[in-house]
Amino acid sequence: MKPELGVCYYPEHWPEEQWADDARRMVEAGLTWVRIGEFAWSRLEPKPGELTFDWLSRAIETLGVAGLKVVLGTPTATPPRWMVDKHPDMLAVDAEGRVRKFGSRRHYCFSHQGYIAECRRIVTLLGKTFGESPHVAAWQIDNEYGCHDTTLSYSSAALDGFRDWCAERYGDIGALNDAWGNVFWSMEYSAFDQIELPNLTVTEPNPAHVLAFRRYSSDQVVAFNRAQVEVLRDLTEAPLIHNYMGKITDFDHFAVGKDLDIASWDSYPLGFLLDRVGASEDRQLRYLRQGDPDFQAFHHDLYRSVGKGRWWVMEQQPGPVNWAPHNPAPLPGMVRLWTWEAIAHGAEVVSYFRWRQVPFGQEQMHAGLLGHDGRDARGLKEAGEVAGELSACGSVEQGRASVALVFDYASVWAWTVQPQGESFDYFALCFSAYRAFRRAGVSVDIVEPGASLDGYALVLAPGVFSLGDEARAAFDDAEGIVVYGPRCGAKTDEMSIALPLPAGLSGVDVRVSFVESLPGAAPVPVRGGGTVRHWAEAIETDDPVLMATEAGAPVLVGERNLYLSGWPDDALWDRIVAHLGEAVGLDIKTLPEGVRLREIPSHRFLFNYGAGSALWDGEEIPAAGVLIRPL
Ligand code: GAL
Repeated sequence: MKPELGVCYYPEHWPEEQWADDARRMVEAGLTWVRIGEFAWSRLEPKPGELTFDWLSRAIETLGVAGLKVVLGTPTATPPRWMVDKHPDMLAVDAEGRVRKFGSRRHYCFSHQGYIAECRRIVTLLGKTFGESPHVAAWQIDNEYGCHDTTLSYSSAALDGFRDWCAERYGDIGALNDAWGNVFWSMEYSAFDQIELPNLTVTEPNPAHVLAFRRYSSDQVVAFNRAQVEVLRDLTEAPLIHNYMGKITDFDHFAVGKDLDIASWDSYPLGFLLDRVGASEDRQLRYLRQGDPDFQAFHHDLYRSVGKGRWWVMEQQPGPVNWAPHNPAPLPGMVRLWTWEAIAHGAEVVSYFRWRQVPFGQEQMHAGLLGHDGRDARGLKEAGEVAGELSACGSVEQGRASVALVFDYASVWAWTVQPQGESFDYFALCFSAYRAFRRAGVSVDIVEPGASLDGYALVLAPGVFSLGDEARAAFDDAEGIVVYGPRCGAKTDEMSIALPLPAGLSGVDVRVSFVESLPGAAPVPVRGGGTVRHWAEAIETDDPVLMATEAGAPVLVGERNLYLSGWPDDALWDRIVAHLGEAVGLDIKTLPEGVRLREIPSHRFLFNYGAGSALWDGEEIPAAGVLIRPL
């Protein structure tokens, strides 16, 4: 595969006379793709039914004639003001019951059928006009589902939809009462239309009720996306893409991805470090201008899987952003490094956000490849460098990793609904396992529960709350060692306690007697080094005990498969990785702090996220540097 570069462009923000020159400079910089249109509804249809697509036709023509392939966005993340007047109840409602107003973006409720019909309508019109354009080589549907906390809505449309969804899932109200355990606190219903949404209750709502609402809400994202896919499939042969975000977990991305051809995501390493990685203050300072060394890679591997092997970075940070608590500039070299790291994980295209910094609106402080005044910004130089290197580097070929990590969106919801301790965060648990392998220079594929585990020497399955039939079958058939726990198989599918506890784990002999959640300041020391934090299970087992706490409680047990009874800190993860690596013959490396390695069939890449140069395996890697070695 020959990776390419692109950029996000907003022709509607600039005088038309400037478009041709912008296009020329894009091509000159080595960019081949340009994404446009995803927020332009008010300029495409200023009044209901009054279509003004002519400017978009001219923009597509100008960009295409210059030699760029266009990704056309559907504008449904920004319904214009008249839409809200037409459908006042299309606005989402937050958990406090407050209507989320017009005046920014993503102001729609996924359950609103009237708005979905409007989306079908505008997408049909766009598809009919541009579906066969020789310049439109891909479509992006909507923009960043779930971003700005927009998956869950407590609107009346959601209430109607949820009641129907419950009727469909449970068939009769008695079955729902049984499944949810509604005899508890006299919560039984006698009809589906008595069910409310699980907000504004006096104290905590039933976890089964909340999990059901979360499943419902995720299904609405899938349905919303599918409505546009159905329209576009009839009107274009170009691939359909969505741009997901970092650490947005309120809907099942695997389910959305099944309807699309390519997954993409928006990678803002410096914004993420301060906004959502959860790094300690020390780490935030160490990586302030580089971003977390593992957070982007985790998402690259996740979205490669969501895209069934095909994925892009649709938006790549080019300089300081505007939305994090602080917005530093990347260290010189980092824009190049981030781009190469994505390519090393299989990105077909890396597209920078955005072309020129805009002087108005919410994002006037957000860098582009050009400054406000149109002069080259540093990001453009680094993008150009990558473009030059790409033409020299040959085909980039991905292979299967030796280690798989099972990532389950429903487990995010389950453990958000019932964390049992404020620091139990399923995403963070999975991420801690992922980064431990990356520290050791081992690549990890991320898979959904039930995916084939053929060919993996090791499968990590921390915290999968409930094992459905498909997940069980995949674990049963796994060729390698499966490492379960903590909290695996701890619940039924309906959020009751599983019996036996845990349930459905093949190849281990473990009974959980009781669990503890622990404040961060109360780690439990483990013999030989490292600690268990946040979560500890007391287990009984007849399997060999491989690691135990200093007080003698089993931490890692098992013979064929393994069970981990607590949440390891980094030091304990490193010991577990060394142990597992030896058991299955992985090449465990000791990389310098901040250095990451990715080996794929065609290349070996070394990335230095450090602010100083690093030495490894006889090679010097400059600060913010990348070494690319063909194999
Ligand atoms: C993304 C979004 C873009 C832009 C960007 C700024 O989340 O898709 O439209 O807002 O962030 O960093």
